[in-house]
Amino acid sequence: MPIAGIYGPEDFGSPVHGHPAAQARSRVTAGERARALPVPSLEWTPEVERNTAHLYQRVKKVISPAEWPFMAPYVQAINELKKTRDAVILAHNYQTPEIFHCVADIGGDSLQLAIEATKVKSSIIVQCGVHFMAETSKLLNPHKTVLIPDQRAGCSLASSITGADVRLLRERFPGVPVVAYVNTSADVKAEVDICCTSSNAVEVVESLGAPSVIFLPDQYLAKYVASKTSVKIIAWKGACEVHERFTGDELRAYREADPSVQIIAHPECPPDVLAEADFTGSTAHMINWVRSNRPKRVVMITECSMADNVRAELPGVEMVRPCNLCPHMKRITLPKILDSLIYLREEVTVDPVIAERARRSVERMINLKN
Ligand code: 13P
Ligand code: SF4
Repeated sequence: MPIAGIYGPEDFGSPVHGHPAAQARSRVTAGERARALPVPSLEWTPEVERNTAHLYQRVKKVISPAEWPFMAPYVQAINELKKTRDAVILAHNYQTPEIFHCVADIGGDSLQLAIEATKVKSSIIVQCGVHFMAETSKLLNPHKTVLIPDQRAGCSLASSITGADVRLLRERFPGVPVVAYVNTSADVKAEVDICCTSSNAVEVVESLGAPSVIFLPDQYLAKYVASKTSVKIIAWKGACEVHERFTGDELRAYREADPSVQIIAHPECPPDVLAEADFTGSTAHMINWVRSNRPKRVVMITECSMADNVRAELPGVEMVRPCNLCPHMKRITLPKILDSLIYLREEVTVDPVIAERARRSVERMINLKN
């Protein structure tokens, strides 16, 4: 069904929202210094080489032998400090291979990370991903310390809408239930009925049993959902700055160059892009599709580190690699993860009143899944 309408801040006279990434990175505070552990040696020694050799095996297809000596000392130090701090590292599929395959304890898409966050036993969670993911982990673990190596790791979708916008949408469409993509702030999650991810968006919309649903903030994911359901979808004008850059022409060019190539795309892409794809799915669905279909050559129309992570795991599959990087995901680096563990920074907090309501929206989604 075609989408019923797409709204944005200007439809309510609100200013266009700024990006959280514009904030400055904070310095190490006196409090962080007081609880710091000693900075470990970051020398490339024969011992470090030996201790990290099994991890290099995992990434040798995508990280050259010349790069590894710069990464391995951090990898070893992070893995040791995780034990000292009783910390667990959760990493999104868009993290670079040295993070995803060498220091993360759990990797996955937004839904998997949200579910895993409910099962964590360690007292500290280090979220290698963007701010809304760390906030979701905090919502589900209010008594644990949740750290993000760089608070500026934002998201163009999360910054496109505020809780006040949701209240205005509810006034405009009284009684219509609201679904929020997890790529939103806790402030927005607190105002909605239920969350979804790109793995379960259609299922969540249909679970409400309503003829119309407000779906925010991604207009392209909303269009994708509308194409799969008879529920009338009212959308918001947000977009992912990584996926909206792909074009149908680009995909046609890949196919003309090699008609046997398989093209798989994320539903945050515009409809003309999805129309050219052989398969559409969340990051986890895309990875599973490659694992089970083992295509000879595949183009992954999504953030480009994911292709590296899949290539490290499945060296027999050739990746044609359009490289659209998410600048926010790329703020997370090995040195910043190490800093997180040494200084216990940067801590993610959510106002308890907002957290209580936002948690309900995330838990409703998770309970639907189980
Ligand atoms: P998923 O991992 O849920 O597919 O989301 C992709 C994304 O862009 C997350 O920021
Ligand atoms: Fe947000 Fe897009 Fe980056 Fe995902 S890839 S974090 S949706 S900007």
